[in-house]
Amino acid sequence: MDRRSNPAPLPTATLSETIAIVCRVIAPNVAKGVIRRRPKIVGVVERFALDAQGVQQLQALSQKYGRGPLMLKVPGKPMAVVLDPADANDVLEHTPEPFATDERLKRSALGHFEPEMALVSSGKAREKRRALNERVLQSSCPRHTFAEAFTRIVEEEAEQLVARVGTRFDELDWATFHVTWERIVRRIVLGDIARYDRTLTKELATLRKAANWGFMHPKRKRLQQRFERHLAFYYQRAEPNSLMAMLSAQGAESEQAPLQQVPQWLFAFEPAGMAAFRALALLCAHPEFAAQAMAEADGTSPPAVDRLTASVLESLRLWPTTPLILRQSTRLTQWKQGTLPAHTSLLIHTPYFHRDERYLHAAHQFMPEMWLTPDGPGQWPLVPFSGGPGVCPGRHIVLLVTSRLLAALQRRARWTLQPPEKLNGQVPMPSLLSPFHLRFRREHLQPNSATTA
Ligand code: HEM
Repeated sequence: MDRRSNPAPLPTATLSETIAIVCRVIAPNVAKGVIRRRPKIVGVVERFALDAQGVQQLQALSQKYGRGPLMLKVPGKPMAVVLDPADANDVLEHTPEPFATDERLKRSALGHFEPEMALVSSGKAREKRRALNERVLQSSCPRHTFAEAFTRIVEEEAEQLVARVGTRFDELDWATFHVTWERIVRRIVLGDIARYDRTLTKELATLRKAANWGFMHPKRKRLQQRFERHLAFYYQRAEPNSLMAMLSAQGAESEQAPLQQVPQWLFAFEPAGMAAFRALALLCAHPEFAAQAMAEADGTSPPAVDRLTASVLESLRLWPTTPLILRQSTRLTQWKQGTLPAHTSLLIHTPYFHRDERYLHAAHQFMPEMWLTPDGPGQWPLVPFSGGPGVCPGRHIVLLVTSRLLAALQRRARWTLQPPEKLNGQVPMPSLLSPFHLRFRREHLQPNSATTA
């Protein structure tokens, strides 16, 4: 938004440009699965570098139309894509008014399993639900009250994972990793007694599969109710050191819909596992940095943002797990380039900003150092966790758990990517790295050596 506003309508992409955006930006992301990834399609998008085509398409349009929001010719629903970094920051900063989080498409997807979640709520209800999430997840606190307990869980599960890998030809693949990751997530969110509760995870997975289809899929009401009853069981138990215990302790009122916030935590942890697995691949491809990171992690006083955390942030910059951040304008807004109608869906395509080699030095390289400076990446919208008042309130927990897992795995073994040339630190990083197709080989550590080098 700009004070020097222009009363004319914003520029609109032609029909063929709109189709190109739909085919190259929206369709690949929808096909990969917005709420639950489809591994085969992720593999195809990786193989044909389709994500790079989406970024190039938007770059070409920003060259042609300038950098203000660009309206798309979509029937039945005003839609615009944000092309300017300052506009992206502005939209995120002005959430939820006049840019609401409960965008229509998001609502139709999340409505399958968390219709009263903060992200898809508005007005007073959103305010209260967001505040509840912030309190339980301790959004403004880099180290959650239960950080020690979460780290212990990660250490215990990593120990068992490494032992399991030893019985599987010393190979760590996604399926093996994922079993461990799900256990970590259930223990952190629901408590230790949920460690083996795969039923609950499967119920949510089924609901998420339906959610991938948004309004095109009928709601699975009975399954949703059963899933909620299972969550209510854990809410009553309030297992010590779990997010459920923290939630129970809040004495939330019914308008805050406490149980409706929990599916988001469970489901949003899945991309965190993907980010951690990719970060392990990045560390394998950058052994010197990995060695420094481990020396720091095992030191007596690791800094607030350490190198392992920076590796996870880089994994999320290079391959953001929320590639489309959606907002919906609540009223007509004025921009330098023209006016944007009320009820327009605004699309922020994070790879377009994260991989903009026109402005970002070495956009396609592994650049963890940038997260280690006091200002982080500065004003450029590197927003894997979104930004502004709608920023992900779980980000500190994610970074804690993933970075501690990387430390725990590397302390116990030396890992090499299979085949090693899958990711080469000397060449640009691929536009997508499928976590489902990554494999690592475990090599036994010599006494007194603990790096990925
Ligand atoms: C790699 C992992 C994660 C990433 C990249 C991520 C990213 C994001 C992003 C981009 C949003 C904003 C979405 C939007 O505006 O439409 C968001 C919202 C949210 N995230 Fe995360 N998230 C992650 C994991 C988690 C975890 C593990 C939790 C909880 C334990 C969590 C809790 C939330 C909540 C409650 C919201 C809604 C905030 C609101 O209503 O304003 N996230 N996350």
